[in-house]
Amino acid sequence: MIGHSLVLGKTLSGKTSLVKRMTIAASTEDDTPVFVLTPHVQDAGWKHCDHVTKDDAEFLKLAFNSTDAQLVIDEAGRYCKKSDEGMWRIASESRHHGHQAFFIAQRQQMIDKTIREQCTNLFLFQQGPDDAQILYGQFVDRLILEAPSLPPGVCIVKIGDSPAFKMKVF
Ligand SMILES: Nc1ncnc2c1ncn2[C@@H]1O[C@H](COP(=O)(O)OP(=O)(O)O)[C@@H](O)[C@H]1O
Ligand SMILES: [Mg+2]
Repeated sequence: MIGHSLVLGKTLSGKTSLVKRMTIAASTEDDTPVFVLTPHVQDAGWKHCDHVTKDDAEFLKLAFNSTDAQLVIDEAGRYCKKSDEGMWRIASESRHHGHQAFFIAQRQQMIDKTIREQCTNLFLFQQGPDDAQILYGQFVDRLILEAPSLPPGVCIVKIGDSPAFKMKVF
C-alpha cells in the first residue's frame, strides 16, 4: 500500500486495533520505523513501535529527521485542525521522505479537509450517513455509503483506485 490513510469511525469501532496490527506487520516484516503521536502513551499496544509520544513538536521533529517510516496520528482530531501547520506538513510533505501516515479520528469533519484530501486510502468503520456521503464524494465508491450499518470490528477498505471491500478486524 502506498500513500496516506484516513482511519475513521465511532469510538470503540476498532480503528486503533487495526492500525496497531498494520504497524506490527510493517515493523516486524519490513523493519519499517513506526512513530506514534497519541494521548495514550502508556498503551502497551504500541510497544512494538520505535517512538510513542504525545508531544506533537517532538513527533514532527522525528518525522522530518527520518525517512521511510509509518507515522500514526491517533486521536487526530486533536492535532489536525485548520491552524495546525505541522500536521498539514505531515500530510503534504512527508511523502517526499517516503513516509506513510495514518490519521485516526472519530469523524471525518475532525480532520481538516486539506489534510483529508492528501489521503489516498480509507479505512472506514461505522460512521453516520452525512459523513459517509462526504467521504463518498472524495473516494467515490458506493460501498462507502454502507458505513452507517457496519458492526464494531468491521471496516470498509478503499486503497487508491482499487474497488472497496469490507474487512473484519475482530
Ligand atoms: N479481537 C477482538 N475481539 C473483541 N473485541 C476486541 C478485539 N480487539 C479489540 N477489541 C475491543 O474493541 C474495542 C475497540 O478498540 P479500539 O481499536 O481501541 O477502538 P477505537 O480506536 O475505534 O476506539 C476495544 O474495547 C477492544 O477491547
Ligand atoms: Mg482509538
